[in-house]
Amino acid sequence: PKVALRSGNATPMPAVGMGTASFPLVPEATKNAVLAAIEVGYRHFDTASMYGSEKPLGEAVAEAVRRGLVQSREELFVTSKLWCTQNHPDLVLPSLRETLKNLQMEYLDLYLIHWPVSIKPMPITSRNKKEDAVPFDVEGVWRAMEECQRLGLAKAIGVSNFTTRHLDKLLAVATIPPAVNQVELNPAWQQRTLRAYCAEKGIHVAAYSPLGGQNWDGTGRNAVLESDALAGIAKARGKTVAQVALRWIYEQGVTSIVKSYNKERLKQNLEIFDWELTDEDQLKISQIPQKKIFEASDLFLQEGEFRSVDPADLDIV
Ligand code: A2P
Repeated sequence: PKVALRSGNATPMPAVGMGTASFPLVPEATKNAVLAAIEVGYRHFDTASMYGSEKPLGEAVAEAVRRGLVQSREELFVTSKLWCTQNHPDLVLPSLRETLKNLQMEYLDLYLIHWPVSIKPMPITSRNKKEDAVPFDVEGVWRAMEECQRLGLAKAIGVSNFTTRHLDKLLAVATIPPAVNQVELNPAWQQRTLRAYCAEKGIHVAAYSPLGGQNWDGTGRNAVLESDALAGIAKARGKTVAQVALRWIYEQGVTSIVKSYNKERLKQNLEIFDWELTDEDQLKISQIPQKKIFEASDLFLQEGEFRSVDPADLDIV
């Protein structure tokens, strides 16, 4: 299934996409995983300048076309993101051109502002420091994002990790409203308030860490894959916990960006479209305790304007 994005010329977005954030990134493993994903049916890929996965993704797509797995790049939906160090009005267009060069592509299907945070210009790294943060010129950056869409270099533009407060500020200045907000979302962080807001404003929601993430919080625990409630539902439906989580996200009208570099799990994660959760399953999932995993605490603060948890998201249970 595909989702129509509001923006004029946008490519319909397949309801499950493959994520390529993997730390440390091994280019050959990423390339092989993308090829395996194309073989089992993925047509939607998510990358970012910060992940270092643009080049291997581009190589995999070029090879898939050479091998005839797909006829052309046009059959795929490709998203990339503007990193915080690039989050400055005059750096948007050059950053997108660099991204397109890495991907060996003429256009992106979707270009996102990665975080509502600007860091002074410097080489891209995930280890940024609070002292390097500078005020985020949301209006100036969004004008430049709009220009990327007008030039046809991005068929749609959007944001990531924006709370309702950030979206309010953006919508007040946008000529082209954001088509998508990609956020942490899964049965253990359901984002009800944000989803209701985005539905009202016509912003499609995409979910990262739909399976609870790759141990981002360093505890070794996974609130989704280790959930007893989800395990019970999975057993009753003859599905895996991952499939129950992805099916629940799909039933909320949200697109999952799910990372697996394993061909069997890649395949399994697409097998969620020919069965349903019951009302009782939905009720059980709605009662799962809520906890955000990804605090990105080096930079994204617990307090102040760019804190990563919006108090509005906390009235969810
Ligand atoms: P792997 O690449 O070894 O499959 P998220 O997408 O929430 O960030 O989490 C993805 C994590 O869950 C990855 O570490 C991935 O590891 C693992 N994973 C992906 N699909 C499944 C699945 N179907 N069952 C169990 N673990 C999975």
